[in-house]
Amino acid sequence: MVKSLLKRGKFITLEGMDGAGKSTHIPFIIALLKTNGVEVVSTREPGGTSLGEALREILLHQTMCVETEALLMFAARQEHIKQVIQPALERGAYVVSDRFSDASYAYQHGAKGLSLEKMQALEDWVQGSQSSDTTLQPDLTLLFDVPVEVSVARLRNTRSPDKFERENSLFFNKIRDTYLYRAAQYPQRITVINANQSLETVQALVKEIILTT
Ligand code: TYD
Repeated sequence: MVKSLLKRGKFITLEGMDGAGKSTHIPFIIALLKTNGVEVVSTREPGGTSLGEALREILLHQTMCVETEALLMFAARQEHIKQVIQPALERGAYVVSDRFSDASYAYQHGAKGLSLEKMQALEDWVQGSQSSDTTLQPDLTLLFDVPVEVSVARLRNTRSPDKFERENSLFFNKIRDTYLYRAAQYPQRITVINANQSLETVQALVKEIILTT
């Protein structure tokens, strides 16, 4: 049934609005990959290194202009790529990252208005030009998608919100729209998962996608 399974390292990223349920699915994905006998590096953005985690504290709790926010996100990402992601992929491990550059497009560009030119310049600088063979892009991105009302309701029932989670539904609509736009732009890489379904249904979908990619 499951055929093309897990021969070499891959870079898998998980995206979605706050409250889309990404965090619930990460342990499932890690366990699934490990059961299939591959080395898995589980990481997150902003974060993933000691510098990245220090920047995360600042990013999630301090007010700053969107340019500074994007620069710090990509500074953390640069360190993350060099210290964690690239070495892991080079030794054949799977890297599963809770968010990556699509989040910068959704939050800093889509919701907060940073220009596409600036965003692409940062991406080209940190990940290598998108038109080159050496650009670092995820092999697979799972986009957990829920309607904004669902995301907002879920957040209300969880922990105390960080800076991003305190935003209003217009902000979340822009994030969702930008994510879905990127999924339409990069259909080979980004798979949209309807996360407004039972946990079992979503996990069955995730399993099928991961094991056949
Ligand atoms: P999140 O995955 O939601 O962490 P947690 O579930 O532990 O709260 O990520 C933290 C926040 O950072 C989230 O609201 C989105 C935001 N973010 C950006 O705005 N831009 C980025 O490039 C990244 C990676 C995250």
